[in-house]
Amino acid sequence: MNHFLDIDKTDPAALRAMIDAARAMKDARKDRPRGMPDDDQPLAGRIVALIFEKPSTRTRVSFDVGVRQMGGQTMVLSGADMQLGHGETIADTARVLSRYVDLIMIRTFEEATLLEMADHATVPVINGLTNRTHPCQIMADIMTFEEHRGPIRGKKVVWSGDGNNVFASFAHAAGQFGFDLTFTGPETLDPERVFLDEARAKGVNVTIQRDPFAAVEGADLVVTDTWVSMHDPVSAKERRHNQLRGYQVNEALMARARPDALFMHCLPAHREDEVTSAVMDGTHSVVFDEAENRLHAQKAVMRWCLGV
Ligand code: CP
Ligand code: NVA
Repeated sequence: MNHFLDIDKTDPAALRAMIDAARAMKDARKDRPRGMPDDDQPLAGRIVALIFEKPSTRTRVSFDVGVRQMGGQTMVLSGADMQLGHGETIADTARVLSRYVDLIMIRTFEEATLLEMADHATVPVINGLTNRTHPCQIMADIMTFEEHRGPIRGKKVVWSGDGNNVFASFAHAAGQFGFDLTFTGPETLDPERVFLDEARAKGVNVTIQRDPFAAVEGADLVVTDTWVSMHDPVSAKERRHNQLRGYQVNEALMARARPDALFMHCLPAHREDEVTSAVMDGTHSVVFDEAENRLHAQKAVMRWCLGV
């Protein structure tokens, strides 16, 4: 079964094939109205359940549009409105949904929920974000980097800010796609050690550098994300902002990266917190290409899951 649960759990050759397929699908529908179907209709006759236990704009819309473009149908479900939110087990939900739909995408809190869904579903399951990882995002990010700058292998990626779920998927990708990764942020918000160790074991250079200006020296790509994620307690907001203020991505920081460095953010962004508008809207930024590429990358992920 081709579940897409995490980048480190997916074969590197399959990941590479998905990025290449995403680029080909994007090129093939250049300038087409968004709602016009693709020439190929690999999801004809297929129905996809999109389950959200957390808010979403990009993941929700890009999966829905992607399925429609490939000829399939979607069903968008809010976890709170399902029996899942009222005591039915994940395992039973997985068994039942597998009798109705061909593919399940879930955005949830605990990684254990995703894994239990995958264990009990008899159709493929896609990780649409958990507290721990966000693999679909990083597939779009790799695609975006390569569209602008060519192969990511051997490049230097610098993450500034919270060592969160999106960072974790970058660490997985560093090992699988072969790029170097530097984390810069306060020690209290370091990523889980295991993400760094696993990437290092695959032969890439993964470092922690507390000084953000030193960290971005030679960077080909600078990335940040919100300082307070959806699973973080609201009460932690002020403390996190105080800890992270020095790690804001602004023009002064970007000026220390390579002159042709790209800037990425998975969005939603909190302008003037983790990133300034000058950087978001500036010449290094590819954030809206990144958002668009969620669509193309996830179409490739879904095709791989279904083998179509
Ligand atoms: N980047 C991302 O996953 O955005 P949404 O939360 O809007 O889906
Ligand atoms: N780290 C963020 C990513 C949102 C797409 C969160 O989990 O809220």
